[in-house]
Amino acid sequence: PDPGWIAEADVVVVGSGIAGLTVALRYAELDPAAKVLVVTKDVLSSGSTRWAQGGIAAVLDPRDSPDEHLNDTLVAGVGLCDVRAVRTLVTEGPGALRRLMERGARFDRTPDGELQLTREGGHRRDRIVHAGGDATGAEVQRALVEAVKAGSVEVIEHALVLDLLTDARGRARGVTLHVMGEGARDGVGAVHARAVVLATGGMGQVYASTTNPGVSTGDGVALALRAGAVVRDIEFVQFHPTVLWLGEESTGQQPLISEAVRGEGAVLIDHEGRRFMTGVHELADLAPRDVVAKAIMRTIRESGQSHVFLDGRHFGEDRWKTRFPTIYAVCREHGIDPATEPIPVAPAAHYASGGVRTDLLGRTSIEGLYACGEVACTGVHGANRLASNSLLEGLVFAERIAADIHAERATEEPTTVRTAGNVVTGLADPRIRARIQAHMSGGASVLRSRESLAETARALRDARWTPVQVLPCTESWEATNLLTVATVLVGAARARLETRGSHWREDFPDRDDNDWLGHLDVTLTEEGP
Ligand code: SIN
Repeated sequence: PDPGWIAEADVVVVGSGIAGLTVALRYAELDPAAKVLVVTKDVLSSGSTRWAQGGIAAVLDPRDSPDEHLNDTLVAGVGLCDVRAVRTLVTEGPGALRRLMERGARFDRTPDGELQLTREGGHRRDRIVHAGGDATGAEVQRALVEAVKAGSVEVIEHALVLDLLTDARGRARGVTLHVMGEGARDGVGAVHARAVVLATGGMGQVYASTTNPGVSTGDGVALALRAGAVVRDIEFVQFHPTVLWLGEESTGQQPLISEAVRGEGAVLIDHEGRRFMTGVHELADLAPRDVVAKAIMRTIRESGQSHVFLDGRHFGEDRWKTRFPTIYAVCREHGIDPATEPIPVAPAAHYASGGVRTDLLGRTSIEGLYACGEVACTGVHGANRLASNSLLEGLVFAERIAADIHAERATEEPTTVRTAGNVVTGLADPRIRARIQAHMSGGASVLRSRESLAETARALRDARWTPVQVLPCTESWEATNLLTVATVLVGAARARLETRGSHWREDFPDRDDNDWLGHLDVTLTEEGP
């Protein structure tokens, strides 16, 4: 439909987690006269950032070094990280973290007033700052939302992004939105801007069980694909090894049990009480995430059970309550006392290591369109993201994006030509969401094979062609986006004939550096991905 209203801005940022809000705040500092608009699908704090537990990785200990952080990141990424992107991340990280603290974020400190540092899987040093014990994301989100509310950045909440607007040269010029409950701006509208930043987060909701909130439906990746942008490494979906296991029937967002719990000494055990990570990797329970998730899945298959356990009984009640208050409370809510019994855990979808391909300035393959945070593929994660590098990536690349948009400002040619994207063609029936999730978890999850992926692709194709009359609404647009990203993900997973990082093919169990030490770039064609 034609937009019912039009708003003008210099920069429009889509999404309001650490990446989006940092771009907006930084750009507003660089260009105080500019109109910076953040649009977000729900309320400002509803994305993934606030759920982050473990923390933010950064080299702050004088015994640590950027080279060591770089090396741990490259090892976790299994050959597919872009070394220049990782170097940027680890060298600019500490400064970006300090600026986050200047914006108001408060992290846990030692009795001497130093930042308290912990460890997570794949890190060989203590380099992770945290807040409220295990509520790092909540503190980061609180600080950024307060900073936005106190400043000049404008916000439209309950605004689901639909499509990219481009000019006659194909340059991004804004977005169309569907807004609900915001008065004069309700319904389908458009924001015109000279730069568009996608910071829409992840796509965990393509699976039946995920740590991601309900809003993580791959909206940014789907928009980018529809607009013709290149999406990279989408097959590398990271499954977090330790997600509270609440039974087969429990679907949707599941409670995370942070890797920091293992960082502080908890260990994984099977139903017989045996540790199974010793001997699997030199870092044992603190091996990179993909290694631990695979070992858990093997243990589950061999034992015929549906989960394993995380044993932190030796922490005792006081330590649980002070160091991991969020996790302790959620366990107690579900009738588990982690001070006296091991916690049942299983892997669940956690993080998209791939996404919309960008360069080191966050630029996508479409001029004027940037991507930042989980929606992006900057090259820092490769085939498997290192723990606590995600919030850091959001911070570092947000600042780079703001600087690049600002630098581009002077060279910009004015233009008035605008064309709308295809807003409502082929909307999916909202009821297919659960079907997509069940098929993705069944055939394109931690463990994949030619047969399971072919079956999933078939099921997604059937879902696509369900001939029903669909009303444009949040649920149908989300279902459309989930179907789009799930289809592309399965296509990429079928194409990668090896096992690497978080992509585990039962029929190609080995890593193949001869044929597969490279990336899979995807664009949408007329026929589909
Ligand atoms: C966790 O706390 O285990 C999650 C950290 C991350 O995803 O990097």
